[in-house]
Amino acid sequence: MKIKYLLTIFLLFNTLLTANSKFAPNSECKSCHPVISQEYESTMHQNSTIFKDPIHKAVWDKHPMNTKQGKYKCAKCHTPTASNLKDMLGKGTKGVPDATDSTHTEGISCAYCHRIESIEHGDMSNTNVVSKKEKHYFGTMKNALKSEFHTSSSENENFQNGNVCIGCHSHKKNKANLNVCSTNISNEMDRANCVSCHMPKVSGSASNVRDTKEHSFHGFPGAHTNQDMLSKYIELEFLNNIGSFEVAVNNKSSHALLLHPLRMSQLRVSVERNGKIDKFEPEVFVRVIGKDGKPTPPWVANTVIKDTMIKANEKRVVTYKKELLKGDKVHVTLGYFLVKPKALKKFGLDKDEVAKKFYVLKKETYIVK
Ligand code: HEC
Ligand code: HEC
Ligand code: HEC
Ligand code: HEC
Ligand code: HEC
Repeated sequence: MKIKYLLTIFLLFNTLLTANSKFAPNSECKSCHPVISQEYESTMHQNSTIFKDPIHKAVWDKHPMNTKQGKYKCAKCHTPTASNLKDMLGKGTKGVPDATDSTHTEGISCAYCHRIESIEHGDMSNTNVVSKKEKHYFGTMKNALKSEFHTSSSENENFQNGNVCIGCHSHKKNKANLNVCSTNISNEMDRANCVSCHMPKVSGSASNVRDTKEHSFHGFPGAHTNQDMLSKYIELEFLNNIGSFEVAVNNKSSHALLLHPLRMSQLRVSVERNGKIDKFEPEVFVRVIGKDGKPTPPWVANTVIKDTMIKANEKRVVTYKKELLKGDKVHVTLGYFLVKPKALKKFGLDKDEVAKKFYVLKKETYIVK
């Protein structure tokens, strides 16, 4: 039993070592994949490092792994191509991001993602097993041309079924065994997966070596960028009753409306009558983690203290007590903050426009008949 355990540790360590081999930099893909490279530029995969994501940096700045241990375990998912990944993750070693090392500023690079061979499932988090072949990339193109720069293959089932994302996105537990962030993929829907929703086919060529009509969008719509491409998976509904009315949010995606515990969603409803606007208190959807009944940062939390987040495939109905009259306009906005307004100050993000902003996901106006 013990030997088996040691062997697992050894294999895992080996996997991490493999992940530490050389990755072609993103700049090398640009000349032949200009459209894809440009889409990728503004995404959180490109910007997942402490040097490019102020929200990630703010949490990292306060994290005991940084302040007490001088280690950057976040690298496993946030800078997986770091040249000293082993030191950043290992036991008894030290390693923190260095702005002058380009492997620490690349984020989740093109070559890294395209070399994910398989995924090892783990209790605390999953682990990507990266192929040793440095210039061989997995994809899903049928009859891809041979490139002089790299070889490729469309045989990898993790690319075919869209599971290539779950090495980093499935779940992340903390020391108290609390699932801090989970995509809860057990709710997978028929025919929809991470890739079909988050990398839809859009027009434009996959490379400039051959003209293809379309390619898979590499702007990764999410909470920071290209939200509008995901709004079709959220429906708003309105129902007028006697003495009250209802607004429903129908989440047609296979995971909760928002996933990261820093987020907070609000449903804002107001009624316009004769030019006068009557606003209701926003309905809040959040998942709050903490300890002893109080919200805490993720490394302190040992329990979920509140969870009103709209779940996968859930239709949430909110009732408003007001008698509507013919001609009333009911304005409904569903949106979110990347960082809960109450947590902004604690992380020193109260002046950060990206963290503070209210992002609109869906907006409708209903006129009472
Ligand atoms: C197992 C993989 C994994 C590890 C390890 C990991 N993260 Fe993340 N992190 C993610 C993923 C995936 C997201 C995107 C989640 C989302 O948007 O819902 C994310 C998002 C975040 C965000 C939100 C960023 C933003 O701009 O809104 C913060 C903050 C964050 N991580 C902090 C950390 C810190 C600090 C560490 C290390 C102590 C860490 N993470 C380790 C996978 C990981
Ligand atoms: C010298 C030009 C060139 C460079 C540089 C280049 N590629 Fe390609 N790549 C191609 C060509 C040509 C194809 C096939 C396109 C087609 O058939 O329409 C391709 C296809 C691909 C595919 C699809 C494979 C499949 O089977 O689905 C991936 C993934 C890929 N490249 C990744 C990369 C990455 C990552 C980089 C940078 C590290 C890169 N490429 C740099 C020319 C290049
Ligand atoms: C049916 C479509 C659909 C599928 C399938 C889907 N998503 Fe999403 N995803 C959405 C929608 C809608 C949102 C919410 C829009 C937003 O955050 O602006 C979202 C948001 C996200 C976010 C941002 C959440 C946050 O709190 O920052 C991440 C990360 C994400 N999805 C990853 C994944 C991964 C990984 C998978 C596969 C396991 C997946 N999604 C499958 C539709 C989908
Ligand atoms: C987070 C993972 C990830 C990153 C980062 C990523 N890709 Fe991809 N890429 C994929 C997946 C998954 C597919 C297959 C999409 C599908 O099946 O529709 C793909 C498809 C491709 C293709 C094939 C053309 C197509 O439309 O299917 C090329 C070429 C490509 N990527 C190049 C790149 C380049 C260049 C970069 C960096 C600028 C990059 N990729 C970054 C996951 C990634
Ligand atoms: C190597 C780990 C890794 C892999 C593999 C990965 N991601 Fe991510 N992803 C992250 C991290 C880390 C973040 C958060 C970065 C941040 O905000 O600082 C993120 C963020 C996102 C977001 C949120 C973007 C936003 O605007 O808020 C989406 C959507 C997403 N990933 C989708 C995918 C999809 C789809 C795939 C598979 C094709 C995938 N990811 C593969 C690590 C990964």
